[in-house]
Amino acid sequence: MENLISLVNKIQRACTALGDYGEASALPTLWDSLPAIAVVGGQSSGKSSVLESIVGKDFLPRGSGIVTRRPLVLQLHKMDEGSREYAEFLHLPRRRFTDFAAVRKEIQDETDRETGRSKMISSVPIHLSIYSPNVVNLTLIDLPGLTKVAVEGQPESIVLDIENMVRSYIEKPNCIILAISPANQDLATSDAIKICREVDPTGERTLGVLTKIDLMDKGTDAVEILEGKSYRLKFPWVGVVNRSQQDINKNVDMIAARRREREYFASTPEYKHLAHRMGSEHLAKMLSKHLETVIKSKIPGIQSLINKTVSELEAELNRLGKPVAADAGGKLYTIMEICRLFDQIYKEHLDGVRSGGDKI
Ligand code: GDP
Ligand code: NA
Ligand code: MG
Repeated sequence: MENLISLVNKIQRACTALGDYGEASALPTLWDSLPAIAVVGGQSSGKSSVLESIVGKDFLPRGSGIVTRRPLVLQLHKMDEGSREYAEFLHLPRRRFTDFAAVRKEIQDETDRETGRSKMISSVPIHLSIYSPNVVNLTLIDLPGLTKVAVEGQPESIVLDIENMVRSYIEKPNCIILAISPANQDLATSDAIKICREVDPTGERTLGVLTKIDLMDKGTDAVEILEGKSYRLKFPWVGVVNRSQQDINKNVDMIAARRREREYFASTPEYKHLAHRMGSEHLAKMLSKHLETVIKSKIPGIQSLINKTVSELEAELNRLGKPVAADAGGKLYTIMEICRLFDQIYKEHLDGVRSGGDKI
């Protein structure tokens, strides 16, 4: 199965890289049919922090106010044990980042390049890939936070602009929504829940994540929410404790933060009985597992689209004739190869199913 998720990742990347060359019309449809996970919630609810803990690396700009101002499409690729991890941006294809502080700086710089050093937002995504032995194969999308009022330096339209941008990602039926609500605010006022109720009323593709449990008023707890009694979703709610702003300022590292999070749930009497399904590590595993299920259910659809894409790509290459721009031709060939590989793995999967095993 690992193989299939990784192939879906590759197809997504190839579709993106193909960009303007993608005259083959099935490509956008193919992209839309592949599952991705988008992180949604109010400003400073902890979206970027949750993403970082899923990845297990410090690399995102975080903080109070509007920090995430462009969508970040993040692809995680699992490498073999012992390989050296690195990150790569689509807009800087020849540069391998091994210093993740430099990745954070580049996200900030690339955001500013598009929007200026302002509080403005842009719907043009930044594409980042992380290759590491310590990640699960996933495509995650970090989005600007929903907000209720424009602040100094922002046009009034920004509230709706952000909402529409977020909606354009999460309304797609292939999108798995990671809905982030902070525990120190009333769930009834959660921006994430509000928009999810609209785009996914049955809660079939929404995973509820409750952040800032450590910041709740003394004498209150999140048990009702975490047990699914406040707002019912198809999947169980996951509570997390991310790093506070003070932790960030003091450079508390991810490993220490995860250990502390584990201890928090295991040792707080109210949450002890839920501890096995709380925390960032559990969330990452649950996401990967869920993604597998979704991909399996979509394989037949993806496969027929891929067959269509391959023949369209072949026609496209023929049309371009011999003097193909090296770049365009190369990318078309790459995506064709990936599609064929997908096809092959899918057939192996079918054989596995027929012989009673589950190969994927
Ligand atoms: P985003 O705007 O939704 O992406 O939120 P960020 O991840 O940037 O977090 C906003 C602020 O809340 C940062 O200062 C984080 O340190 C802090 N924060 C996020 N999650 C938690 C949490 O679970 N506990 C505590 N104490 N602080 C958190
Ligand atoms: Na923020
Ligand atoms: Mg953010």
